Amino acid sequence: MTPPKPETSQEIGWTPIAEEAERAARVLHPEGNTLPRPRRRRVLTVANQKGGVGKTTSAVNLAAALAVHGLRTLVIDLDPQGNASTALNVEHRSGTPSVYEVLLGEVSLAEAAAVSEQSPNLLCVPATIDLAGSEIELVSMSSRETRLKEALSAEAFDELQVDYVFIDCPPSLGLLTVNAMVAAQEVLIPIQCEYYALEGLGQLLSNIELVQQHLNPTLAVSTILLTMYDGRTKLADQVTQEVRNHFGEVVLKTVIPRSVKVSEAPGYGQTVLAYDPGSRGAMSYMDAAKEVAERGAEQGVRGELS
Ligand SMILES: Nc1ncnc2c1ncn2[C@@H]1O[C@H](COP(=O)(O)OP(=O)(O)OP(=O)(O)O)[C@@H](O)[C@H]1O
Ligand SMILES: [Mg+2]
Repeated sequence: MTPPKPETSQEIGWTPIAEEAERAARVLHPEGNTLPRPRRRRVLTVANQKGGVGKTTSAVNLAAALAVHGLRTLVIDLDPQGNASTALNVEHRSGTPSVYEVLLGEVSLAEAAAVSEQSPNLLCVPATIDLAGSEIELVSMSSRETRLKEALSAEAFDELQVDYVFIDCPPSLGLLTVNAMVAAQEVLIPIQCEYYALEGLGQLLSNIELVQQHLNPTLAVSTILLTMYDGRTKLADQVTQEVRNHFGEVVLKTVIPRSVKVSEAPGYGQTVLAYDPGSRGAMSYMDAAKEVAERGAEQGVRGELS
């Protein structure tokens, strides 16, 4: 008897391109794999005063991944840089109804929200350059820490029928970030897998504690996402391990790899899910969104950080 001939990848119809196409199809048409609706609407503030750690990238890609699964998702761009608005290709020229007018109470959330062309389930309240002066303008305003919360009323969210809200913060712990922390129930902290990543985290956590004590007792750090992981470096593993040892369960199992596709996507006004759905970056944000949603379906979504 002759031994069976080993199958080549061609014979079994498997090639790297076929595999990527199959992954892309799973990302773009995940019908068979729907994510649970949260038990209650979830408002997550994406914060880290360190710049360039992946706040905006994580906010828009997690939002896009949830939207692809049929969950109505709103991204509130609370950074005068307007990066989330750019990534979602939403108009944000000066004068466009934006989060600035929402903070001033001049327009409602629904009036400022635009539907992203990436998905009818994905909405964005843009940030224009007008927001740049608001850190200073807010100082002299009444209820300066709670203005966003007032605008994000249950009625405002009901009008938009959203399941998830991500607030993309600027890289500072100023009044805009405080407004975001007062308006949310959860904080999502992206941490870059780099040497200095943990620096400043203590300050962020003590600010969160201050907000808990004085302004929003139900706020909790529910999610930490490790970003820009480079598997070729020992350092990335060390940082990952350190963060996991320190923060435990709150850290998502999924780690976002450093990927050129992820960084290229905003240049095309797209999330990585739209730009290259078969890429590792897109798959990892899908996996991270799945974890976020599955935690949301459980009762104890609150973070356990002390
Ligand atoms: N997984 C990744 N792989 C490669 N590049 C990435 C990845 N995630 C983010 N980037 C890039 O790193 C840069 C910083 O990311 P991002 O803008 O999301 O950070 P941020 O924390 O929002 O920054 P800021 O503090 O300025 O708001 C961007 O150029 C982005 O495209
Ligand atoms: Mg940003």
